[in-house]
Amino acid sequence: MENQQKDLKQLDANTILHPSTNANEFAKTGSRIMQSGHGISLQDTDGNSLIDAVAGLWCVNVGYGRRELADAMHAAASNMGYYHTFTGMSNVPQIELAERLLELAPKAMSKVLFASGGSDGNDTLMKIVWYYHNLIGKPQKRKIISRWQAYHGTSIATASLTGLPSFHKDFNLPIDGVIHTESPDYFRHAKSNESEHAFSVRRANELEALILRHGADTIGAFIAEPVMGAGGVITPPDGYFTEIQKVTQKYDILFIADEVVCGYGRLGAWFGSDVYGIKPDMITTAKALTSGYFPFSASFITEKIWDVIKQGSAKYGSFAHGYTYSGHPIGAAVAMANLDIIEKEGLVEQSADVGAYFHQQLTERFKQDGFVGQVRGQGMLAAVQLMQDSDSKTFFDSSIKIAPQVTAQCYKNGLIARPLPSVDSVAFSPPLIANKDDVNTIIDRFEDSVRAVMKHHV
Ligand SMILES: Cc1ncc(COP(=O)(O)O)c(C=O)c1O
Repeated sequence: MENQQKDLKQLDANTILHPSTNANEFAKTGSRIMQSGHGISLQDTDGNSLIDAVAGLWCVNVGYGRRELADAMHAAASNMGYYHTFTGMSNVPQIELAERLLELAPKAMSKVLFASGGSDGNDTLMKIVWYYHNLIGKPQKRKIISRWQAYHGTSIATASLTGLPSFHKDFNLPIDGVIHTESPDYFRHAKSNESEHAFSVRRANELEALILRHGADTIGAFIAEPVMGAGGVITPPDGYFTEIQKVTQKYDILFIADEVVCGYGRLGAWFGSDVYGIKPDMITTAKALTSGYFPFSASFITEKIWDVIKQGSAKYGSFAHGYTYSGHPIGAAVAMANLDIIEKEGLVEQSADVGAYFHQQLTERFKQDGFVGQVRGQGMLAAVQLMQDSDSKTFFDSSIKIAPQVTAQCYKNGLIARPLPSVDSVAFSPPLIANKDDVNTIIDRFEDSVRAVMKHHV
């Protein structure tokens, strides 16, 4: 058995280019191979049993090993397996799913296009921004404003939207026409004595200045995650989206809400847009739509955009966009079964309730500790800001790589937490099925781990 495992790890190292992995360090440590999962727990091939406090990549909201999803997959695969949705072809699961999602989504949404993941969902909406402005006779309105610290994917276009420099360097990105405005990270970027609201107004003024510098007639859209995920679990400061939307509306700039992490209950509501009063023209969702069991995304548009797409078909004959796997009947069936679980088990409400408890307990547990600068997040999305000394607001030297050290220790203690090295933070987004006892265990294991590491650093 042990030999077999060594062989697997060796084989992995010899054959796989791992996403978001340090190629040199990985060669030394080898992979961690996940073998099975049930509920909020996973087992790896080294015999470790782990609570996954991240839900995979913030997506396994109904937990691991759900029979209902396996059954839905099995039924859809046995029934047909696959057929495409080009040239007006359709299938029953995608029709039922579209109707259900449009009931749940913010009211203004009118049509949905399915694909396979968050990147292609955002790619779709970027193309629609260009198509829309060309068709309404404003072809120069093509630049898209994203924010530093944002994460919107890794395709050529969406890695450009992503506002983390490591996704650009030596990839010849960002592409022309994608620009970034300052991040909403109040904790890092507020001036001393600046209120959250004053900071939000400043960010909106900076956005307006950027728009005017480029010329408002060149800006097509603004894209934002309601809560930034991979960039730091950054919640919008007080009044942020109200102030930002005053600017986007003033200059006729489309608003894309990237709800790939926030959508379907993560924040304690069905959509993050509803939590923060965002009135988007388009929305991307993925991840939790199928709890990660099938690669699937849904991009929503309003009637205003749909009307212009129809003008495009009058001109060109068809809307020439889509993917082989758009509206995949297995994915749609899994999404339906997943939504059944979310509704039947009240997971959106549970996320609000358990999430509030999680934040309160995390805050309480570390309130005397100088190495925690902030606990932030919303619902079942949280991050702990690690610091050399929170009183003097001294950050760790980046060479210490404090967040990966803490999460490596967490793993040894049976907990998967996610390091966010760019902001020295540790993120949590447990499956929404986690209850208050689970949260207590997560915090206990995290506390043991972080204290063990901090002994050497503060
Ligand atoms: C907010 C957000 N948008 C888009 C994406 C990209 O999704 P995918 O990896 O499915 O392409 C992610 C992935 O983590 C994300 O967090």
